[in-house]
Amino acid sequence: MNYRKGIRMSAAMVHDKLGLGIDLGTANLLVFLEKKGIIFNEPAVIAFDRESGKIVAAGEDAHRMLGKVHSKIAVIKPLKNGVISDMRAAKALLTYVLGKIENLTEKDLSKTTCVICCPSEVTKIERDVMADLAAKMKITDVFIEEEIKSGALGAGVDIFKSKGGVMVVDIGGGTTDVGIISFGDIVLSRTIRKAGSFMDDEISKYVKKTQSVEIGELTAEKMKIELGDLHVDAKNVVNRYAGRDMVKGIPKWVMLSTQEVQTVLTPVFDEIVKLITGVLKDTPPPELSADIYKHGILLTGGCA
Ligand SMILES: Nc1ncnc2c1ncn2[C@@H]1O[C@H](COP(=O)(O)OP(=O)(O)OP(=O)(O)O)[C@@H](O)[C@H]1O
Ligand SMILES: [Mg+2]
Repeated sequence: MNYRKGIRMSAAMVHDKLGLGIDLGTANLLVFLEKKGIIFNEPAVIAFDRESGKIVAAGEDAHRMLGKVHSKIAVIKPLKNGVISDMRAAKALLTYVLGKIENLTEKDLSKTTCVICCPSEVTKIERDVMADLAAKMKITDVFIEEEIKSGALGAGVDIFKSKGGVMVVDIGGGTTDVGIISFGDIVLSRTIRKAGSFMDDEISKYVKKTQSVEIGELTAEKMKIELGDLHVDAKNVVNRYAGRDMVKGIPKWVMLSTQEVQTVLTPVFDEIVKLITGVLKDTPPPELSADIYKHGILLTGGCA
């Protein structure tokens, strides 16, 4: 599969082509179309009718269905740990989103220059899968670019002109990406496949272990968002959530506190800190380290 990588994105956006940006994340799908702006910013989830194969819902509507539908409907997240794990679902989701744009034909798509984001440490095969997805959408001019670069650009850093090194930490749904960008390209980067979804799983496991209650993935995410606070002096809030008693099989309330969520999340963030210090230690030119020390770290992603 042919695609471009590591070229100056801005220079490649030629005027007779329409720019299309796709951030197909583990948790969220963001689609940007030049002249229209952001046309989709919703969960990367799609629901199919198993029998007819028809799309029942996508984005926010499909996300609400997670863990709640009967066996005739399949609710799918096309990405796992930052990479496409279900090509059919990924294509259906993108087709659905692009299909919502008025007057955008397949021919128009073939005339776009498309940038698709990916984690910085993906294998060639995983990149190829992303490019294949674009090809299936009839998009031929494709860049597969690291999302930390896009994150920096989105935060207003002109990575091509900025003279110093910029450290970006992207804590998303499936991956945590840490990288140092200098003069438009990544000097050093590392990815771990642990981020928001992993934190949700850890919370679920904790509730199961301590209270023998099973909770759904939406509830675990809610617990993380509502109670996740890593400050030493975090106010200890206790909230009530619904789950299912694992012994009796009936619904049951669980009480969970900020402190407990902190206990669960601290080891995950310790690992992220270790990742950051590892990248800092391995950054070769001391001048780059000095830049980062002076300018700080750019934090991005939903869990940042
Ligand atoms: N206020 C919040 N507090 C804590 N976590 C949050 C908050 N808001 C969103 N999140 C989490 O952020 C994650 C999604 O982040 P993001 O949209 O950056 O992921 P993504 O780009 O889809 O994933 P990836 O880049 O890893 O493939 C989810 O796990 C979500 O629960
Ligand atoms: Mg992301």
